[in-house]
Amino acid sequence: MNRVLQHTGSKYPVIQAPMGWIARSPLASAVCNAGGLGIIETSSGETENCIREIEKMRELTDAPFGINLPLLFLRDENMIKFVAECGVKFVTTSAGNPAKLIEILKAHDIIVYHAVPTVKSALKAVEAGVDGLIVEGSEGGGFKNPEEVSTLVLLQAIRDHVDVPMVAAAFAVGAEAVQMGTRLVSCKESPVHPNYKQAIIDAEDTGTYVLNKKSTPCIRALKTERTSKIFEEGLMPADTFKHIQDLYFGGDMEASVGLAGQSASLIKEQKSAADVVDETIKGFWQISSRMGSLASSSSF
Ligand SMILES: Cc1cc2nc3c(=O)[nH]c(=O)nc-3n(C[C@H](O)[C@H](O)[C@H](O)COP(=O)(O)O)c2cc1C
Repeated sequence: MNRVLQHTGSKYPVIQAPMGWIARSPLASAVCNAGGLGIIETSSGETENCIREIEKMRELTDAPFGINLPLLFLRDENMIKFVAECGVKFVTTSAGNPAKLIEILKAHDIIVYHAVPTVKSALKAVEAGVDGLIVEGSEGGGFKNPEEVSTLVLLQAIRDHVDVPMVAAAFAVGAEAVQMGTRLVSCKESPVHPNYKQAIIDAEDTGTYVLNKKSTPCIRALKTERTSKIFEEGLMPADTFKHIQDLYFGGDMEASVGLAGQSASLIKEQKSAADVVDETIKGFWQISSRMGSLASSSSF
């Protein structure tokens, strides 16, 4: 059986990415109810609200769900303690070294997957004791490694070294589940403003920038006047995220940076989370049956 499904307990190997303020109970429960795995974010740093969202999930879905702990943004030990003790069985860690969370999470029998942008970070995470890897190439949205490696290369390079399950959008080169962020930001149940959803739908393949490569956090975001200026200047002002909620929920696309991956160019309309999950699964079976018939006929 697919190891990611064994670890998550979900029906389908489709995972909704953690996203500050966005990955809360309305979106996460819609993904869970469609058979995928919803993840509740804690990167907003709003401990009480995140705890409430985790509790709400139990009212909105009977399916299992996960929680993300991003090391760079974790300021509150209470958040970690709550996540360890709340009964959730699947946690993803990101943006830092997972080693310091492994002991407490494992003491509560939690499965831990860590998000990695390089082979080196993958080896370090596996050595620290994680159960699986979210392999995040440079084309994805949100926080990025400034040294860009594409998902296709990363998956194959990591698979050469370790045998833990990998999550990414490419089963053919060894991934066992897909994690989607931008696609679900733009879906019907996503809480963000229509302007943000439309900007994702309108984006072309070249419609995003990698910003702030010489500092931290390095991010991938939609092209706007504001992000063009940051791109030209090379450095992102420290207060850039201060007004992120005005962009996310107020719809002012110049108030901050609209995180999104190159996958935005593949998104043509707003769909429900259930349609996104269904189409992903149907697409997977179509491609695998095409590959299967190629293999069985031994011809191209
Ligand atoms: C709006 C947005 C916010 C994000 N916030 C987080 C976050 O809080 N923590 C995290 O680990 N990753 C975050 N990410 C990255 C996602 O986990 C994931 O790697 C990325 O969305 C995958 O690429 P895709 O957007 O093309 O699907 C974010 C991505 C987006 C688009």
